[in-house]
Amino acid sequence: MAETSIGESAQLRAALVDTLRDKGMVTSALVEAAIRAVPRHWFMPAGTPTEVAYGYDSSVVTKRDQDGMAISSVSAAYIQARMLELAELRPGMTVLEVGSGGLNAAYLAEVVGPEGRVVSIDIDPEIIDLASTALDATGYSSRVRVLVADAEHGVPDEGPFDAIIVTVGAWDIAPAWLDQLASDGVLVLPLIMNGVTRTIGFRRDGDHLASTSAEVAGFVPMQGAGRHADQVLELADTTGGKVKLAFDSGAPPDLIQLNGVLDADAAEFWSGVTVSHGISFADLHLWLAWYLDGFGRLAADEGSALAARKRWLPFAVVRGAGLACLVLRDAMQGAGAEFGARAYGRDGQVAAAALIEQIQAWDRAGRHTPPTFAYWPAGGDRSQIRADATVMNKTHGVVTISWPTSS
Ligand SMILES: C[S@@+](CC[C@H](N)C(=O)[O-])C[C@H]1O[C@@H](n2cnc3c(N)ncnc32)[C@H](O)[C@@H]1O
Repeated sequence: MAETSIGESAQLRAALVDTLRDKGMVTSALVEAAIRAVPRHWFMPAGTPTEVAYGYDSSVVTKRDQDGMAISSVSAAYIQARMLELAELRPGMTVLEVGSGGLNAAYLAEVVGPEGRVVSIDIDPEIIDLASTALDATGYSSRVRVLVADAEHGVPDEGPFDAIIVTVGAWDIAPAWLDQLASDGVLVLPLIMNGVTRTIGFRRDGDHLASTSAEVAGFVPMQGAGRHADQVLELADTTGGKVKLAFDSGAPPDLIQLNGVLDADAAEFWSGVTVSHGISFADLHLWLAWYLDGFGRLAADEGSALAARKRWLPFAVVRGAGLACLVLRDAMQGAGAEFGARAYGRDGQVAAAALIEQIQAWDRAGRHTPPTFAYWPAGGDRSQIRADATVMNKTHGVVTISWPTSS
């Protein structure tokens, strides 16, 4: 627990609720009351400053793996609030939270009230211990059932659930979640689609799920049976710094051709597509993940030449012996930026052309209206998939995306 005075934490909590309402993350009286009621700072790791505990968008890491990667965290307030709203909860409901920590479970207990039921599971016994301790200290332990379980298998003895809220990055929808979701239930999950995540609220629509809304938010990765491993290619650059290129699935063939691709100077190409400062273009990343063959995510060491050249975004495309990454330059008389492609290697210009083509396609057909998603479990009737939808294969079904402007 963070050390803080009651007055200070109450003030910060009230300010947080105001911000969440102003930004449209809290829209219902039930969720607002829950966030007002729960002492958020009690669920934070020791030493967390109270302002951070009550920050609008600060997530706080609670555990890292041996490589230093975050594997558990207290999610940021705005995304917790948004997920609670997406779940369309009412008093008396039974809810499953996948990925525990205590805080969100306490919010859920407030929302569903004494007639409701909250089950919160985590694969990591240490996290369940921490969650139990904090729930005990704040008086919620009798209102939340915490269990160690791998979410992939669900918790068959505890359902059916009116809502399932998954708070860990999911590459697919486990069949157990659909088996344990009530027929009119809501599933909220951060779904990873070719490396880009959207937290999506889904409702059943016949034998598939249809999205109700989606948010941009990242989560720690799923462990256990539902874990998905990216294919990662490590490229050395001229400074000896390392650049990693991660492919979610379907990595391009013959990646060996990329050896030495970062050795030569890069050329830049520009799309003519601009964005004003302060306007989100997160849907461009989603568009590229869905429509750009050879799409991968880039990560560069601090000291690498790629990182030293500023204004690049961590998305790239591969063509043969070439690589192009998404870059920005000033535009609109300083009021915005233009998207472009920085090309490396023998086929870099081909890769850049493919990237520019999709930036321009997004500008024409994708940027003005958010997409909708659907999930079609394996074995169901897929004849109803809309003709204008694009399909992405998963292990247990397919996800589709439709951009209203392209229909
Ligand atoms: C972002 S944290 C949960 C945050 C929490 N719900 C909150 O609001 O503060 C994600 C958690 O998911 C857990 N997790 C990862 N894979 C899991 C799995 N297969 N089954 C259950 N829990 C899992 C991790 O151990 C981690 O504690």
